[in-house]
Amino acid sequence: METLGLALDTTFDDTSIAILRNHREILANFTLSQFADHEEFGGVVPERASRKHLEVSHFLIQQALDEAKLEFNDLDWVAVSNVPGLLGAILVGLSIAKSIAYLLEVPLIGINHIESHPYANILEHGEFPFPIVHLVAAGGHTLLIYQKHHFEWEIIGRSVDDAAGECVDKVAKLFGFPMPGGKMVDQAAMQHDPGPYEFPRPMLNDPGLDFSFSGLKTSLKYFHNDMPSDLDPGPVLSAFFESITDVLVQKTLRAAKQRKVSAITVSGGLAASKRLRTCFEKACRDQGLALFYPRPQLCTDNAAMVACLASYYFEAGRWDDYRLEGYPNLPH
Ligand code: KG4
Ligand code: ZN
Repeated sequence: METLGLALDTTFDDTSIAILRNHREILANFTLSQFADHEEFGGVVPERASRKHLEVSHFLIQQALDEAKLEFNDLDWVAVSNVPGLLGAILVGLSIAKSIAYLLEVPLIGINHIESHPYANILEHGEFPFPIVHLVAAGGHTLLIYQKHHFEWEIIGRSVDDAAGECVDKVAKLFGFPMPGGKMVDQAAMQHDPGPYEFPRPMLNDPGLDFSFSGLKTSLKYFHNDMPSDLDPGPVLSAFFESITDVLVQKTLRAAKQRKVSAITVSGGLAASKRLRTCFEKACRDQGLALFYPRPQLCTDNAAMVACLASYYFEAGRWDDYRLEGYPNLPH
């Protein structure tokens, strides 16, 4: 039986709307970045993010329906990311999703945004070969997830301070790049060798699966303070990114070994990095691990991945009622 679902993601500073047929056929996937609305403040202003979601959501939903050549009545379910993120921003998406589901009398499905990131790989490649380890390297989170089956997953490693993406963005800002600077740092890493520079690889020798990136950021801050103004930043950024990729790759491979899985996925905004991909490809080839990566536009925040996960919840009858709430933090 064919099913059609609408998903909304307003967890942070992007408004994303997608329409999916069954598990994998993306009929529409629109993301409106609020980047320009927050730029003058040097970071995302939560209330401004909520207002912007409210301003643009109806327009994006209509655009998605038009693109999919559908009407509201064609929808079988409505999903929304209700955790984690900025609470005010989440509540905007939640209210809209509840209203649509209520009026259409179709199931409402609350989705954990983090749980959905790896599902970008199902859109791209098909079903997961369970059991599997996922690295989610997003702007606000760096997490290792062990998943036995749909809905059965466990966080087995997380950053104890800054996320890798956050660290990369802050270092990029230090070197004068506009936010979010991940893409520019990635380009520097692809174009330059690290040369004589080497930065710490925090917690790499720690036997656990947790990460820490704030010490690395501080190292770069000290380096930048003492740096001659005419120094080429390319090799420095390349060496910095080498520390990031080394830690992410080695910890993910360690997780795969500990959990005895033969496949891993990488997702989240940082997964759009070409350098990180190259490092993972080499390491997985050497270890005989299957590696799954989504295309860059499905790495960064998007509602298609939310819709993909929601399609499994819909199929399993795991629906929510109208008391569904929003939560800013991931449960520990
Ligand atoms: O997943 P995402 O869009 O947002 C969150 O859910 O947090 O991730 C954003 C992060 C930022 O740190 C950004 O600099 C990084 O992903 N990023 C990249 C690239 N595109 C986005 N990092 C490296 N290379 C890229 N091409
Ligand atoms: Zn995300």
